[in-house]
Amino acid sequence: FNVPAPVNEPVKAYAPNSPERLELLKAIKELKQMQRDIPMYIGGQEVRTGNTKDITPPHDHQHLLGQFHEGDASHVTQAIDAALAARANWADMPWEHRASIFLKAAELLAGPYRARINAATMLGQSKNAYQAEIDAACELIDFFRFNVHFMQEIYKQQPTSAPGMWNRLEHRPLEGFIFALTPFNFTSIAGNLPTSVAMMGNVVVWKPAYTQIYSAQVLMELFKEAGVPDGVINLIYVDGPVAGDIIFSHPDFAGIHFTGSTGVFQQIWKTIGQNITTYKSYPRIVGETGGKDFILAHHSAHPRQVATAITRGAFEYQGQKCSAASRVYIPSNIWDEVKGYVQEDLKSFKMGDVEDFSNFINAVISEASFDKLARYIDAAKQDETVEIVAGGNHDKSKGYFIEPTVIVTKNPQYVTMCDELFGPVLTVYVYNSQEFEKTLDLVDGTSPYALTGAIFAQDRYAIDLASKRLVNAAGNFYINDKPTGAVVGQQPFGGARASGTNDKAGSILNLLRWVSPRAIKETF
Ligand code: NAD
Ligand code: ALA
Repeated sequence: FNVPAPVNEPVKAYAPNSPERLELLKAIKELKQMQRDIPMYIGGQEVRTGNTKDITPPHDHQHLLGQFHEGDASHVTQAIDAALAARANWADMPWEHRASIFLKAAELLAGPYRARINAATMLGQSKNAYQAEIDAACELIDFFRFNVHFMQEIYKQQPTSAPGMWNRLEHRPLEGFIFALTPFNFTSIAGNLPTSVAMMGNVVVWKPAYTQIYSAQVLMELFKEAGVPDGVINLIYVDGPVAGDIIFSHPDFAGIHFTGSTGVFQQIWKTIGQNITTYKSYPRIVGETGGKDFILAHHSAHPRQVATAITRGAFEYQGQKCSAASRVYIPSNIWDEVKGYVQEDLKSFKMGDVEDFSNFINAVISEASFDKLARYIDAAKQDETVEIVAGGNHDKSKGYFIEPTVIVTKNPQYVTMCDELFGPVLTVYVYNSQEFEKTLDLVDGTSPYALTGAIFAQDRYAIDLASKRLVNAAGNFYINDKPTGAVVGQQPFGGARASGTNDKAGSILNLLRWVSPRAIKETF
């Protein structure tokens, strides 16, 4: 068994009348006609509780896509029991066999599942075709293939021995079960968190965000078809705190693989701390959390390049990427030119549903998110200290649509420069071009987060200075590029400070968190 270093899955273009566009449109049509009845999956069984909740597309909230069956505390216990029952056989399976299951998942996703997972992500999470393709198809295929490659490196790496002695390292799975708690904004993250853990021989209880269940079920079908045995990954739809109460007080709780907001993760960490004597082992706590990602331009930056990074980096997927820029620092000498380009670009961005492939902007994920964003925008409209230079409108009559909005402030601590809004609202602080060093301190000190950030400059001294002074301000740092779009295997992704434990999804570092090595020495 020798898996060569993988290459990234090529992104399909979905050009008009291309076979992939026609196939995707067909999948969308089929899903829309279906009204899916979505069960939980526990121990390989479909579980229907009869307590159903509607799923509607965020861009068309009157259209019923289907219903999911919500579970309660008893289903959490059942899922834990099913995971523990599957553990011995799964942990005992040779790692090459586990690897082959996930290589098969990659092939299925690249082929027969591609249109369906993209269609489900477009409808359920309101992503346009391109955003769905780079997430649900390419990024998840890459996660499977690269993780298998990294797991091979882990298992093959062995200590040295000497004559009369055989040293070896067993990379045992953790003793117990892992909780995978996943967010709405990337189908690939929802797919990666349970599978990267399972790949290393662990069993999993997986709870997705309710707003991602529509594509999560397609993922579960993919895992089953690829050969993940019953009980290894158990998918439940249970209210987060209800699930947490049972999971975090269970003696076999062995770790959490989380992606979501900082507040939720900090609460979970506290609960685990309070229950620490309950567990057999210290649980592994891996979490990628919130952000307040920045773009900083130097006075030598190229205005057109900065403007493109802003419009792409802040507004793709309605600013709901964890990596999306939401605070920007621009020197006064280039601001007018950058502003002109940004306004021009945003005017050309069409907003609407996902079936019209020319729409760049779709809806934000939920009414709660819409209302929060609208509140911030309306407050800015009333505030004489700030100016809205693009967007500012919102409408939830058909779907949760927020125009890409740019707020300009003279106050680097203005509320939208600091709070994580998670939507298409960007705040710009225009600084005196001579005060680059002072601005570096602002960038570093304004936010507790440190996920992504970008510096734009032609002056190499400025790039060097920013790299050094912002060393802890971003887990993913971009030089003359937008802060979104990290590719598995190329830019391992994760943030520090309040943005996460920085264990870099899709890397050997992450996989190592899911094993507990045993060192063995044998003498002859
Ligand atoms: P969220 O924190 O609301 O939810 C994440 C998961 O936690 C969901 O499954 C949710 O149901 C569950 N949950 C919520 N409250 C809970 C509780 N009290 N107890 C137990 N479980 C609970 O996040 P979201 O809205 O789905 O995603 C957006 C957030 O995720 C943003 O803050 C974004 O920055 C972050 N994010 C970070 C990264 C990263 O790599 N750093 C990637 C994607 C998203
Ligand atoms: N790969 C995603 C991005 O960097 C998380 O935007």
